[in-house]
Amino acid sequence: MKNITVIGAGTMGNGIAHVFAMNGFHVNLVDMNPTSLEKALATITKNLDRMVAKGGIDEAKKSETLANLHPTTSIESCAPTSDLIVEAATENVEIKLSIFRQMDALAPAHCILATNTSSISITKIAAVTNRPEQVIGMHFMNPVPVMKLVEVIRGYSTSNEVCSQIMELSRNLGKVPVEVNDYPGFVANRILMPMINEAIYTLFEGVGGVEEIDTVMKLGMAHPMGPLQLADFIGLDVCLAILHVLHDGFGNPKYAPCPLLVNMVMAKNLGVKSGKGFYDYSHGGKELVVAPNFKK
Ligand code: CAA
Repeated sequence: MKNITVIGAGTMGNGIAHVFAMNGFHVNLVDMNPTSLEKALATITKNLDRMVAKGGIDEAKKSETLANLHPTTSIESCAPTSDLIVEAATENVEIKLSIFRQMDALAPAHCILATNTSSISITKIAAVTNRPEQVIGMHFMNPVPVMKLVEVIRGYSTSNEVCSQIMELSRNLGKVPVEVNDYPGFVANRILMPMINEAIYTLFEGVGGVEEIDTVMKLGMAHPMGPLQLADFIGLDVCLAILHVLHDGFGNPKYAPCPLLVNMVMAKNLGVKSGKGFYDYSHGGKELVVAPNFKK
C-alpha cells in the first residue's frame, strides 16, 4: 500500500493523516470544507513542531511528513488511485453510509475501505458497498500520534486476508493493533463509556465533586486523565452518541445515559471543543478549572 486517502480533517482525521504521512505514505486528506483543511494542516504542523522540540524527530522528518500530505476538497480526484481509504467523518450513520457508497463507486477494485468509527456497526456500513469483505474498522485513539492502540474491527463479512493486511499495516505505523469482532461499542467503548457514564452518575447523585471523582481515578487507578476530564476531551456529544449505540444495540438499561450528560449536550456544553464541559477551557491554559455549574 502506498496511496492512502483519509476522509475528514477533524481531530481524528488529521491525527490519522499525520501518522500515515510520517511513516512515508502518500496521503490525500479530504474535507469538503477548505477551512477545516487549513486548520488540520496547522494542527499537524504544530504537533510536528512539538515532536521536533522534544527531540522525537528532526526538521528533515518534519519536512518529509508535510510533503507527503496532500489536502483536497475532491474525493473524486484521489479515490481512483487509492490503495486504502480511511473514513474519519462525523459520527453519524447516514453521513457514513453515504460516504461509503461514494467510495465504493470511485475506488479501484483492490482498495480497502476502512472506517474510524467509534461505535457504528462495520457490518451495516459494509452492507451498502459491493465489497463487504474489503470493509473493516480501524479505530485509532485520540491523540492519534501518541496513542499506541488501533482497534481493528472485523465486520461480519470482512475477509481474513483484509484483516491480516490491516493488522500488518497498523504495525508498520508503529501501532499495536488488536483484532475484535463487530458488536456494539466493540471492546474499547463497551468498557470505557459505562465507566464515564458511571462517573457522571456519581457526580449527578452528589457522591463526589468533579475534582474528587477525577482525583480518585487518576491517583487511585493510575489513569492519565480522570473520567470526567476524559469525557470533555472526547466530546460529550460523542460519549452520548456511543451510549445510545450501546443502549439500542443491547437493549440493556445499564447503558442508559445519565440525565446530566443528556442535559449538558442539549446545553451545548460539549467539553474541550465548546470551551466548557465538566471543566472550563475558556482561559486557554493547560490548568484544569472546574466549570461554574459544578463549583461548590
Ligand atoms: N500530537 C503529538 N504529540 C502529542 C500530542 C499530539 N496531538 N498530544 C500530546 N503529545 C505528546 C507530548 O508531546 C508529550 O510527549 P513526550 O512524552 O515525548 O514529552 C506526550 O504526548 C504527553 O503530552 P503532555 O506532556 O502535553 O501531556 P500529558 O502528559 O498530560 O499527556 C495525553 C497528554 C497523552 C493526552 C494523556 O493525558 C492521556 O493519555 N490521556 C488519555 C487519552 C485517552 O484515553 N485517549 C483515548 C480516548 S478514547 C478515543 O480516542 C476513542 C473513542 O472512540 C472515544
